[in-house]
Amino acid sequence: MRPKFKILITATEAVPYAKTGGLADVTGVLPKYLKQLGHDVRLVIPRYYEIDKVKYGLKEVQGALGVPMGVLGEEWCGVFEGKIPETDVPVYFIEHERYFGRKNLYNDDNGQGYMDNDNRFAFFSKACLQLCKKLDFYPDIIHANDWQTAAIPILLNTTYKHDALGKAASILTIHNIQHQGSFYEGLMDVLGIGWEHFNFLELEFNNQVNLLKGGILHSTLITTVSDGYAKEIQSPEYAWGLEGVVKERAGSLYGILNGCDYSEWNPETDKYIVKNYSENDLSGKLECKRDLQKTFGLPVRDDIPVFGIVSRLVKQKGVDILSEALYSLFDLDAQFILLGTGEVWSHFYFGGAPKFFPDKIGVHIGFNNELAHKIEAGSDFFIMPSRFEPCGLNQMYSLRYGTLPVVRATGGLNDTVDNFNEQEMTGTGFKFYDPAANALFNTIGWSVYTYYNNKPAMKKLIANAMQKRFTWENSAKKYEDVYYLAVRRRQNIYISS
Ligand code: ADP
Ligand code: GLC
Repeated sequence: MRPKFKILITATEAVPYAKTGGLADVTGVLPKYLKQLGHDVRLVIPRYYEIDKVKYGLKEVQGALGVPMGVLGEEWCGVFEGKIPETDVPVYFIEHERYFGRKNLYNDDNGQGYMDNDNRFAFFSKACLQLCKKLDFYPDIIHANDWQTAAIPILLNTTYKHDALGKAASILTIHNIQHQGSFYEGLMDVLGIGWEHFNFLELEFNNQVNLLKGGILHSTLITTVSDGYAKEIQSPEYAWGLEGVVKERAGSLYGILNGCDYSEWNPETDKYIVKNYSENDLSGKLECKRDLQKTFGLPVRDDIPVFGIVSRLVKQKGVDILSEALYSLFDLDAQFILLGTGEVWSHFYFGGAPKFFPDKIGVHIGFNNELAHKIEAGSDFFIMPSRFEPCGLNQMYSLRYGTLPVVRATGGLNDTVDNFNEQEMTGTGFKFYDPAANALFNTIGWSVYTYYNNKPAMKKLIANAMQKRFTWENSAKKYEDVYYLAVRRRQNIYISS
């Protein structure tokens, strides 16, 4: 029998409270499955302005929380408490008006990171640790996610080393190594951990403080969100300069694929789509397609393939590749539907396209969960031309909805989509390898050809896709294994097996 642990998950977004991307899907759902395995798991996130205390029934934890901020002195914040909806998992919200009482999570309206993100997330990381003391909750494991909470493993090995909290093993999950939390060196004085840690083997990188680097080097164990990405980030092509650091800790790095939340993403029960459907009866999918075409102002045609895209419109997602291919794609007898928000140029570029090609493309610039569901259900294919993709969730949703993914073979996309093999009639989608417009164009062309000319293959691919499962039960068990190893390692007990 495995021991049951006290686990604190720290993150800067979580569904349903605040979301900019897949990180929120992971941190809002994983705790539920760890709880089901019998662990005492709790979650901490900032209380952003947009999180409605009344709607979520949050209660104030009595007494202000003091957070030592080095040269800035002690800062104080409030703490609110709730339960992740439909679970028994406590979630704490750190409330600090100056740091979190503003619109957007990380960036201003022009997409620029807030100038004080260094202090905001150093503060949040420290607040998570101070909160444990306040609650008299001493976790076996503290699980940090991405650069925003990467200071936690560093703090546990330094300021908190001789504290009861210092016994906690730390896990750092890398959801995206592009964003590293690189700031001017003065942040050392705010972290208050001593300048001796500003060196090449700890926090220093290009004369700056690099929180992700420090976190990777200080955490007990590291995880990332697919096996493929775990390998990729050991190479210069994918590591944004940190390949040496990741390689250094490769023996402590585990790839754990994210799960898909099938209670939210399931065509049989989805409440946002016009008609539910299943593997055994796809008639509802056709109605969803018609509804989608109508919603996006496209001609309603059953016989034409519809390609959906739901994405942050940033370079990572290959939107530049898509933009380069777009006008050639309009030569195909196909329709395209795009939902997304991100870099300003892309809003104009994609947002303007329906004016010139009203029969070919429908676009909604913005973040809209309901539309995301409609696109997953109503499209025939789903395009993800990512330059890199640590895991990717939309392709998993697409598979469940029988919407065949057309993906670049990278990271989690490569791990979760099986390429169509025409001879064997196997696969769940279509892959391309070069991050280039012609490769994307040719692969979309291949899927259009298959749609029109190989109906038996389409049927088979859809059936294969809909049967695939990436469950959170499975992923949570893998996290449990890593937690177990981390606790043993923190206690300096080495396992021989
Ligand atoms: P990333 O976290 O890198 O953006 P993922 O594929 O892991 O990529 O997760 C993206 C999540 O955000 C998915 O749940 C997706 O449906 C959602 N999403 C992205 N853009 C939008 C949008 N414009 N409207 C609604 N949901 C979106
Ligand atoms: C990041 C990655 C994405 C991953 C998500 C959740 O945002 O870009 O690929 O699915 O984190 O782990």
